[in-house]
Amino acid sequence: MAPRSGKTSGLAIPAILAAPGPVLLTSNKAANDAFTATVDARTAVGTIWTLDPQQIAHHPRRMWWDILADARDLAGAKRLAGHFVAASVDESAGSDFWSTAASNTLGALFLAAASHRRPITDVLAWLASPADRTPVDLLTDAGHDAVAAQLQGTVSGATETRDGIYETSRQYASCLLDPDVAAWVTPAKGLPQFRPAAFATSRDTLYLLSKDGGGSASAIIAAAADAVMRSAVVVAERSGGRLDPPALCVLDEAANVCRISDLPDLYSHLGSRGVIPMTILQSYRQGQKCWGEAGMDALWSAATIKVIGSGIDDADFADRLSRMIGDHDVQTTSVSTSESGKSTSVSMRTERILPPDAIRALPKGKALLFATGIRAAMLDLRPWYTEPSAKAISPASAAATQAITERALAKASLGRDDFEAAS
Ligand SMILES: Nc1ncnc2c1ncn2[C@@H]1O[C@H](COP(=O)(O)OP(=O)(O)O)[C@@H](O)[C@H]1O
Ligand SMILES: [Mg+2]
Repeated sequence: MAPRSGKTSGLAIPAILAAPGPVLLTSNKAANDAFTATVDARTAVGTIWTLDPQQIAHHPRRMWWDILADARDLAGAKRLAGHFVAASVDESAGSDFWSTAASNTLGALFLAAASHRRPITDVLAWLASPADRTPVDLLTDAGHDAVAAQLQGTVSGATETRDGIYETSRQYASCLLDPDVAAWVTPAKGLPQFRPAAFATSRDTLYLLSKDGGGSASAIIAAAADAVMRSAVVVAERSGGRLDPPALCVLDEAANVCRISDLPDLYSHLGSRGVIPMTILQSYRQGQKCWGEAGMDALWSAATIKVIGSGIDDADFADRLSRMIGDHDVQTTSVSTSESGKSTSVSMRTERILPPDAIRALPKGKALLFATGIRAAMLDLRPWYTEPSAKAISPASAAATQAITERALAKASLGRDDFEAAS
């Protein structure tokens, strides 16, 4: 669905308001969006965790999450590095030498820090001075000899190459250079720690907010969403196979703020475990840019429910949808006049039920549903603000939006440190 077609108001928000279990939401907006519309209702059922490193909602820091918790083994460290690469590089652009080398280096440094319970800020210090032997020693110490040797090889290689790899790595991890961003993912005394495993069986809500694009905190958002979903699967496997109530993971603006590279693979594990992912994209192309053509294809096939709304401006995609909806027979009557008089003939013609141009012109508020095992259906979306519950939610959303404005103003007049202290 194109921007402003009702993805958030017609899909994300109603799903969150109806969710019986824990809810995760990623978003790049706070005011008058899913965060403000749901925060009040969700406060009533559980704890609210807001990870707002770039101050989208100007939310004071009242939690921290250990970004390195899953990076204590090589696979986890690589996955974390992958989130930082994916936030800056499109999968469709392919990977070159520098991005692969930088990803390996970041992975090694994350592993070095995580295996000794060092904070992620140490990784930044190591990135700044490639000659520092500390990470190599830490890796050797933790028994990761092969990774240590690999890192040592990079560090002692040709200076231009090493500097190029380190510069690329620094770019990928650049959001952590901002201490206000890094603070959310480093241990903080006196603040509650967000724990993905406990979250899976709670009725809590995790809001993950970030700006779009490379250099933003979107890598942190993707890493947190990934950690929550994976941990929920592990908890489900331990407790009879499924989470009950299920966990809802709404990845709103997924291609902008939550680029989990292996989301297509992850998808197939989640559904059967009571972890319900809901990936919201503006177009099919946006998904292809983010996950590559094969990746988007896999994501499309793995999703058992697909909803397509207005603003599809991609002729190939519209034609593909039109073919999926199918054909029907239309009766046509033709009249011909000759000397012997008028004659009428009736014939059947096969036509598309919904031709591509009609899909392109789908009005706001309408959507096509493709679900496994049934024919395609045309839906009327039911945005939250037209439902009876809007009577209570609208004022709550307005108040939450007002609170964001007030926090922004307070911050502007107080200065940031005083604001943190005051809140
Ligand atoms: N509380 C509301 N009351 C009336 N209209 C709204 C409200 N919230 C959103 N809308 C309208 O719904 C449309 C879709 O908004 P939204 O769901 O945020 O779009 P998307 O997420 O697809 O970008 C917008 O045109 C907006 O004007
Ligand atoms: Mg939206």
